[in-house]
Amino acid sequence: MWILNSAFEISDMQKPIPYGKQSITDEDIAAVVETLRSDFLTQGPRIGEFEEQFAGYIGSRYAVAVSNGTAALHLSAMAYDLSPGQKIITSPITFSASANCARYCGAGVLFADIDPETYLIDLNRVEELLKKDSSIKGVIPVDFAGQAVDLEELKEITDKYGAWILEDSCHAPGGYFIDSKGIRQNCGNGAFASQAIFSFHPVKHITSGEGGMITTNDEKIYKRLLRLRTHGLTKDPSEMGENHGGWYMELIELGYNYRLPDILASLGISQLKRADEGLRRRREIAALYDKGLKGSGVITPYYNEGHAFHLYVILAERRKELYDHLRTKNIFTQVHYIPVHLMPYYRRFGFKKGDYPNAENYYEKCLSLPMYPTLTNDEQNYVIENILNFLKK
Ligand SMILES: Cc1ncc(COP(=O)(O)O)c(C=O)c1O
Repeated sequence: MWILNSAFEISDMQKPIPYGKQSITDEDIAAVVETLRSDFLTQGPRIGEFEEQFAGYIGSRYAVAVSNGTAALHLSAMAYDLSPGQKIITSPITFSASANCARYCGAGVLFADIDPETYLIDLNRVEELLKKDSSIKGVIPVDFAGQAVDLEELKEITDKYGAWILEDSCHAPGGYFIDSKGIRQNCGNGAFASQAIFSFHPVKHITSGEGGMITTNDEKIYKRLLRLRTHGLTKDPSEMGENHGGWYMELIELGYNYRLPDILASLGISQLKRADEGLRRRREIAALYDKGLKGSGVITPYYNEGHAFHLYVILAERRKELYDHLRTKNIFTQVHYIPVHLMPYYRRFGFKKGDYPNAENYYEKCLSLPMYPTLTNDEQNYVIENILNFLKK
């Protein structure tokens, strides 16, 4: 048997350790089974329950459940009437969906480089772009890795140019920043961004299999989102031109079927009960990585108290070698993200290497370590030890 230079034997560790993973309990399973046995599989009572509880958790007035985070971005962009001839700004270090939502609406995408310390969109670069181009109608900041963007500062900028803010908070349910008055501002609470979106993909804080949510404090936007997620249909008499009876509805704009089924919402509701517990565990894991990697030569992430730790990203020299080395140990790290402007689709719009040096330098070294609530201390120590062993080579 292969004995590692540690207390751990490889046989104990052969189970692959991914970078992110869902946790499903018997209670979660029971909640889904109960819905399967009920009268509603889709758009029944679980949707409203999930929306209400999620809004309560985040601190927004409204929440609209949709089929995934990408659909949430698309509908939010539509609710701003984003259209051809207009543009948005987002970060090059994000999942491409943050940018793609503008393309779905026929609008253009601009990127603002990241801050090399926080890896978040650099608000000075955002303002430079807004100053130059009046066709920019909105900014899509990303609470990357779980670190909240300072939306108070961003709103001071966007207000000068009449631009909206759509917060991509897929990495940060439960995350927050402290504003200039000392008030805790939860990611997605709508205090500064008129819409925020979340994803319930299995690697995220809570999962519904696939799923997404839009939060807002704006009643008009809320009503529009409800309509857009179901084709653009309304049954509200005040919105209809005619009314033929109980069955009657009108298609008043072009929407989509982006509904979340009740089956998945029941999983989301059950998971939401453990959201705080998961967040606490993520923060514990981050603290253990900080401690274990201190002085090792890798750069551990910047963060403040409100960080939600969807990801724990280190910057390492010889990143590819480290990634490959860890794979041989059954540790599956990941790279978040390949800069969006360097994706072949976006290169077609003229973006090229060298456009956003901070994002590109970050990409050369970044590596997301395993981070999920059910990661055990033994597994985490095994990860740290294998990183340290690699760095000694
Ligand atoms: C920052 C960010 N935005 C958007 C999305 C899209 O969410 P989904 O995968 O649920 O469509 C994701 C998820 O991968 C994400 O990480």
